[in-house]
Amino acid sequence: NTPLRLGIAGLGTVGRGVVTMVQTRADLLATRTGRRIEITAVSARSRHKDRGIDLSAYDWEDDPVALAHRDDVDVVVELIGGSDGPAKALAEAAFANGKDIVTANKAMIAINGQTLAEQAEAAGRVLRFEAAVAGGIPIVKALTEGLAGNKINRVMGVMNGTCNYILTRMEDAKLPYDTVFDEAHQLGYLEADPTLDVGGIDAGHKLAILASIAFGTKPNFEDMILEGIEHITFEDIRRASDMGYRVKLLGVAQMSGRGLEQRMTPCLVPKGSPLGRLENATNMVVVEAEEAGQITLRGAGAGEGPTASAVMSDIIDIARGLRLSTFGQPATTLQEAPAALAPIP
Ligand code: NDP
Ligand code: HSE
Repeated sequence: NTPLRLGIAGLGTVGRGVVTMVQTRADLLATRTGRRIEITAVSARSRHKDRGIDLSAYDWEDDPVALAHRDDVDVVVELIGGSDGPAKALAEAAFANGKDIVTANKAMIAINGQTLAEQAEAAGRVLRFEAAVAGGIPIVKALTEGLAGNKINRVMGVMNGTCNYILTRMEDAKLPYDTVFDEAHQLGYLEADPTLDVGGIDAGHKLAILASIAFGTKPNFEDMILEGIEHITFEDIRRASDMGYRVKLLGVAQMSGRGLEQRMTPCLVPKGSPLGRLENATNMVVVEAEEAGQITLRGAGAGEGPTASAVMSDIIDIARGLRLSTFGQPATTLQEAPAALAPIP
């Protein structure tokens, strides 16, 4: 079989992890897919940055979009980030030039995923984004494959590790928000723009993607009820604890007679419940499926290894010839999400 050739754009936390997996798991990947998976070219902003990985065997492109124009690239792996800009330009160029796209970019999928998926379908290519939701947790595949025959009633969960770290650390160490926010920053948990995390936007993007897959609707981030954790004080957390609750940034999406209801807000959850026991930067996604019942997935929602694992799972699918549609159905059949008339009670 011919090798599957990758062009990787973005060599930060996730890009490094993907390069490392391709290098260290080469034989395993070949055994499991029947093809070698190879990197032919890479791109990032600074060519001479020491990234702690060996890139000497790969061509370098200063402009990531150039990866989409190379004859020796089959799949472009987009790990730059941002809903627009170079990431979207790269995806569009890739489809126009007959390449598939694998991405971890939740902002791009939540905001522009529908348009990109339609472009991919028109070009006969695939757009895959397992890593965009909850890092190492294979929730996109759970919905699009394992639960594909089910009517989904509700998707909910904790989908931002940084916020869960801040909230649990404030409670456990009895520390104020600002102190723990600084700690999270030092630990490298925060996005380059921390508002994305603590403002609930990053988690909101993830919920919009899951809701779209679960309910067959176009991603609709704009109409989500969204509130971050910036205004949660230690006093709020202490009072909740006294009553037997913990504060979690919880996302809930459900389709009811009132329409698609999506909410990402701080909530009280019972301390002893699975969500209440969720510590540090862990994520948890709960799916309520009509036939399969309640499915709970818990694991690392971020970081080099877990996120690279999710990116690799999409690359492996493509290597195996699985060309499943992005949203579990053709993007052209996704419905407008009926607007919710009232918030979830
Ligand atoms: P980083 O900031 O660590 O890395 C971003 C990479 O993109 C860097 O290598 C940077 O180059 C490169 N880059 C930035 N702008 C450009 C540009 N204009 N042209 C070319 N290259 C550019 O991000 P992450 O690895 O953390 O995240 C990558 C994607 O994965 C994002 O969409 C993120 O939301 C998503 N994601 C991240 C997770 C995580 O745990 N980190 C988890 C799940 C998803 P240089 O290094 O030279 O500056
Ligand atoms: N900033 C995100 C988080 C990274 O804390 O969960 C993973 O998407």
